[in-house]
Amino acid sequence: MRRLLVATGISVVLVAVGIVAFGGGDDASSALPRDPMTGKTEFDIPVQDPVLVAEGAAIYQASCASCHGADLRGTAVGPSHLSIIYNPDHHGDRAFASAVVNGVEAHHWNFGDMPPVAGISEADFVRLIAFIRERQRLDGFEAYPPP
Ligand code: HEC
Repeated sequence: MRRLLVATGISVVLVAVGIVAFGGGDDASSALPRDPMTGKTEFDIPVQDPVLVAEGAAIYQASCASCHGADLRGTAVGPSHLSIIYNPDHHGDRAFASAVVNGVEAHHWNFGDMPPVAGISEADFVRLIAFIRERQRLDGFEAYPPP
């Protein structure tokens, strides 16, 4: 009897530990995609200037959407800019500027290299990044690697 009580006591404790460790199903943040580097799920992206966003949208459609998708969610030849790895902590605005000016050697995906994109002035880049961050803020991020 005493053994049984001890055994029952241990299993109650184990179940309790399991609920704490795995969130018991009611922890909403466990379902959100996490940055693979920092583990973060939230990025506090500020609301962007709507004029810059609108101008940036046109530039994005003309220069980036053929590979990254009109909705930023990627195509057969380029990755989604809503992937969690493109959050502002992991790929800051400077990483975006470098991608445009220098191109990118394939390292996160199997789409091949990104060539430099000509004809984007500094002012255009400010518009472009406002559009991308606004979409990330409003649409949220996708898991990396994709499920
Ligand atoms: C010809 C196709 C193509 C076009 C056009 C293109 N990209 Fe890319 N881009 C890619 C591919 C492919 C990758 C993925 C490289 C990898 O495997 O990490 C990429 C990656 C990136 C990255 C990630 C850079 C890094 O440091 O990992 C950024 C930022 C980016 N693109 C921004 C842009 C922007 C902004 C535009 C428009 C001005 C654009 N791209 C246009 C194909 C393209």
